Amino acid sequence: MTTSRRKIDHINICLSESVESSYTGFEDVMFVHNPLPEVNYDDISLEVDFLGKKMRAPLLIASMTGGHPDTYKINKNLAIAVENAGIGMGVGSQRAGIEDESVVDTFSVVREYAPNAFIYANIGLPQIIEKGVEYAERAVEMIEADALAIHLNFLQEIVQPEGDRKAEGGFAAIREVSSELKVPVIVKETGAGISREVAFTVREAGVKAIDVGGKGGTSWSGVEVYRVEKGTMRDVAQDFWNWGIPTAFSIVDCHDILPVIATGGIRNGIDAAKAISLGAKIVSSALPFLRPATENPEEVERRIEYFTEGLRKSLFLTGCEHVYDLHRVHIFISGLLKEWIEFREFNLFEFTRRRFHDF
Ligand SMILES: Cc1cc2nc3c(=O)[nH]c(=O)nc-3n(C[C@H](O)[C@H](O)[C@H](O)COP(=O)(O)O)c2cc1C
Repeated sequence: MTTSRRKIDHINICLSESVESSYTGFEDVMFVHNPLPEVNYDDISLEVDFLGKKMRAPLLIASMTGGHPDTYKINKNLAIAVENAGIGMGVGSQRAGIEDESVVDTFSVVREYAPNAFIYANIGLPQIIEKGVEYAERAVEMIEADALAIHLNFLQEIVQPEGDRKAEGGFAAIREVSSELKVPVIVKETGAGISREVAFTVREAGVKAIDVGGKGGTSWSGVEVYRVEKGTMRDVAQDFWNWGIPTAFSIVDCHDILPVIATGGIRNGIDAAKAISLGAKIVSSALPFLRPATENPEEVERRIEYFTEGLRKSLFLTGCEHVYDLHRVHIFISGLLKEWIEFREFNLFEFTRRRFHDF
């Protein structure tokens, strides 16, 4: 099975089947409604700086695709919408583009139609371990990227028959790329979350931001259940459907270590507000943008607006004028998330009042 063919299978499954896992952890966060907000709705600002680039809202469309001729249109529609909305996006794994010149345009179309937006490149850790810095540089050059995301998706790799299972040398590879590349490196999970321990490790390796890619949204073990033939592998993939660190837990874990991109089951503006209130700098979302991207840029823009409108209203109803005021609003945290915060030995009382870090 070629890399390019596999990408199309994944897209078709994500468009037609139910592929999400349960529980992001945002279920255990409640904003304390502010009935006397003392801000004017029209003065609310969602603008942020992220890794050196200004954005009109703290939202990225997460890495999805490129690498098969049919994905050209998807990336083009996403890019046009992202440029118009003043937000950012990632491309899918660029392995196919590096190995096959004929599909480079399915990635480079993004920079062509989003000349000013924050765009990040994307390569899997196994490719970086095997091919090193040169591979990473080619991915960045292909789309004139502002940053490179190295994705960690070992859960998916071990439940798909053709997966890459070599993880030894990962730290050294990330460190080498982080020190040699001209753009910042992001480490990115794809649905199983990043732990506090690994956040410390990748910071030491020189990484500049973490995309937590937590559990509660698209499950890659779930996607593989639809691809793998009936038998042991499929049964095991089914068992791992809900494996991972829920997104909210992972934000808590990483928020004071490196700037956090909150991804995994962010489905509306209230989820986005909760993610930022827990300490994230920016949020990102993949699956909700896939169907609109198969249609036209206007549908993608409508979906972006749905997120930003919900976020703006959440700010208003918590009395926040700027999006990062969310780091200081009081939040009520219950259930498993509360237990996790205590397990990680944060002071729960202080945590519910302030999640601010100056980076
Ligand atoms: C169709 C599709 C393809 C994806 N391809 C990639 C990829 O190539 N590289 C990557 O790092 N993540 C990939 N992802 C993972 C997303 O970037 C994201 O981490 C994950 O889907 C969780 O976010 P969500 O719950 O909002 O979908 C893909 C997601 C989808 C839905």
